[in-house]
Amino acid sequence: MKRIDREIVQKVLDAANIVEVVSDFVSLKRRGVNYTGLCPFHNERTPSFSVSPARGICKCFSCGKGGSAVNFIMEHEQLNFNEAIRYLAKKYNIEIKEHEMSDEERQRESARENMFAVNEFALKQFEQNLLETSDGRDIGYAYFRERGISDSAIARFHLGYSLEKGNALYDAATKAGYSEQALIETGLSVKREDGSIYDRFKGRVMYPVHTISGKVVAFGGRTLRNDKKIAKYVNSPESTIYTKSRELYGLYQAKKSIVEKNKCILVEGYMDVISMSQLGIQNVVASSGTSLTEGQIRLIHRFTSDVTVIYDSDPAGIKASLRGIDMLLAEGLNIKVVLLPEGEDPDSFAQSHSLSEVEEYLAQNETDFIRFKTDILLKGVENDPIRRSQVIGEIVRSISVIPDDITRTIYVQECARRLEINEKVILSQIKKIITERREKEAEKQRQDKARNSIATLDDTTPSESADQPEAINPADTYATKPVVTPHYSKSAKLTKAEEELITLIVKFGLIDLPMSDENENVFNIKVIDYVNQELQFDKITFSVESYSKILTEALKIAAEVWPAEIPHCEQLAQEERTRLWNKGTEKIQQTAANSEEIKARERQLVEEIDIAYQQQIDQYTEIFMSRMLMSSPDDDIRTVSTRIATPKHQLSKIHSKFGKIEDERERLFDLLPRAIYGLKDALAECEINEIKESLKRPNVKADAAAVNAALMRMNELISLRKEYASFLGERVILPK
Ligand code: CTP
Ligand code: MN
Repeated sequence: MKRIDREIVQKVLDAANIVEVVSDFVSLKRRGVNYTGLCPFHNERTPSFSVSPARGICKCFSCGKGGSAVNFIMEHEQLNFNEAIRYLAKKYNIEIKEHEMSDEERQRESARENMFAVNEFALKQFEQNLLETSDGRDIGYAYFRERGISDSAIARFHLGYSLEKGNALYDAATKAGYSEQALIETGLSVKREDGSIYDRFKGRVMYPVHTISGKVVAFGGRTLRNDKKIAKYVNSPESTIYTKSRELYGLYQAKKSIVEKNKCILVEGYMDVISMSQLGIQNVVASSGTSLTEGQIRLIHRFTSDVTVIYDSDPAGIKASLRGIDMLLAEGLNIKVVLLPEGEDPDSFAQSHSLSEVEEYLAQNETDFIRFKTDILLKGVENDPIRRSQVIGEIVRSISVIPDDITRTIYVQECARRLEINEKVILSQIKKIITERREKEAEKQRQDKARNSIATLDDTTPSESADQPEAINPADTYATKPVVTPHYSKSAKLTKAEEELITLIVKFGLIDLPMSDENENVFNIKVIDYVNQELQFDKITFSVESYSKILTEALKIAAEVWPAEIPHCEQLAQEERTRLWNKGTEKIQQTAANSEEIKARERQLVEEIDIAYQQQIDQYTEIFMSRMLMSSPDDDIRTVSTRIATPKHQLSKIHSKFGKIEDERERLFDLLPRAIYGLKDALAECEINEIKESLKRPNVKADAAAVNAALMRMNELISLRKEYASFLGERVILPK
């Protein structure tokens, strides 16, 4: 793997705004100083994913996932650290100089990266073919033109053409250095039984499929022949980078508009998306001819809860797809349905109407899904009591999956009216279905839980070496790990003490503490340096490997990275100061009665701004350490500091609004010595236990001098512990 310069990494981390980064995947709503949205890492209907722009982190309070911007991208896009940095660099137009790949390096590149790269190459190749080769222009481009596709739509969807002759793509790609393996794994090339190779998409127009982050994972290729024996579309096979059920065609291009309009329009095919989009309706995605999967629905739900499904007026097709829609309902989405006029599909309809006509048609024909389903199923069976009751059962089932109580109740009422049956009958049926389902789910959860806990117990945390006793702290409330009773209670206490101290370093390492020496001279010392001095004085090292790694890294950040960052921090604060000054003076000019008042108010403004300036610098300083650690290339440092620095529980609304939460930072003067003495105390206790154990050994017992020395040391430790205890005891913090 090629290394990216630390300097560049720093630049990327500085640029990466967590709200912007997360917003590419999750629709966020502002909630006070933070943002919330539906967690992209697990299935949920009410938002528990929180983003803090001030701290540069995100976190799901339900499943616990999240972290820095880099962490988020790594997790979400399944990338390694360097890949995530590349992703962010691309997003923020930061240039990463790639040196020419050596053969060896090329081999070491992960297979996935190769596949993305060759797909990207193929996309460019296909685009170039379409516009710059004579075959491409005469055949491919002419076809799109004939179907009314504009140049800008071609560019937006990266439409292309795969040449008919030879193995054009295979030859070009291998010549450019891409591996045969990547070509075959992505499905761009196909290997015959006899070992020969051909281009899968030969002579077809090409529709690339992008992930929501814009990576090309697959292609659809349409033949231009009218031969019924040839498949109209050939699609990329599933691969390690492409799972069909987890992608939606057009979502990458549509997501912005989906958020803006807070609605997603669902159609069937590539051409439907493209024609609608070029007309100006851009919040359109396609399931690509297959029925929707849960994964696809979740993708949509990240951006909106409102979905409109457009159907061609083909009754068989509609009936077949009704079931898929129940899944949308179950996911908590609000579903509307639009039926197009006889013989039209979204593509033809968009091509033959103006934007306002299509918009008007959609608005006027949008029907609520349950009503739509009722109408369709009831058609023709009104007078057949048996079929009728089957239909009622079907519809009741649909209603029963709606998670929201109020919405469900409204449907029950409406349904009762339309079907002319008693509301109570429907309600009791629904109740029955829901109870059954809940029981099934509970059973499934029990099974999953049992399976998970076995899996968690199996995986050994990489931060702890194998010969160390299991040191999981029972008081640790983080994550869903089951509480494991530690084998040796001494190490649990020690680990807890170490964690308390390392937590303060991660959260507040760069903060200056005012101290005074023997001569009452006041000086500042950073939390990290203070802790380090204390530890070195007693020659203490952390027993948990990841903590000692964090300490080393934190010292390096404080000594090397932070000094270089200070000017940037000051510049940001200065810019804010200027902004506040301009805004403030303008207001004073507009509202002050006379020059006397102007002067007085400006003086006050200066004071206020100075305070704000200092606050901003303080805040930046405070957050910088955890930001750096949470973005560390070292997996251990990054994950452990993320776990430590992100809040464990969401503050309840009432709490944060009315209650005064004692600020950890303000309590630093108490917390820090407490943590240090707590650690020393835990170490002393460990040593006492060790001595006790050693005194049981026959060879020690027999050696009077050794026993004596041991007892003396033990006494020393006991009195030290008393000292610590009185110190710790004095520092009990009383609520103010
Ligand atoms: N599809 C497919 N393979 C096929 C047929 C269809 O993958 N053999 C998928 C494609 O994603 C296609 C969608 O199903 O876009 C809808 O099929 P269809 O309506 O036949 O395709 P259109 O997109 O309408 O294409 P065109 O208008 O060019 O015929
Ligand atoms: Mn079509």
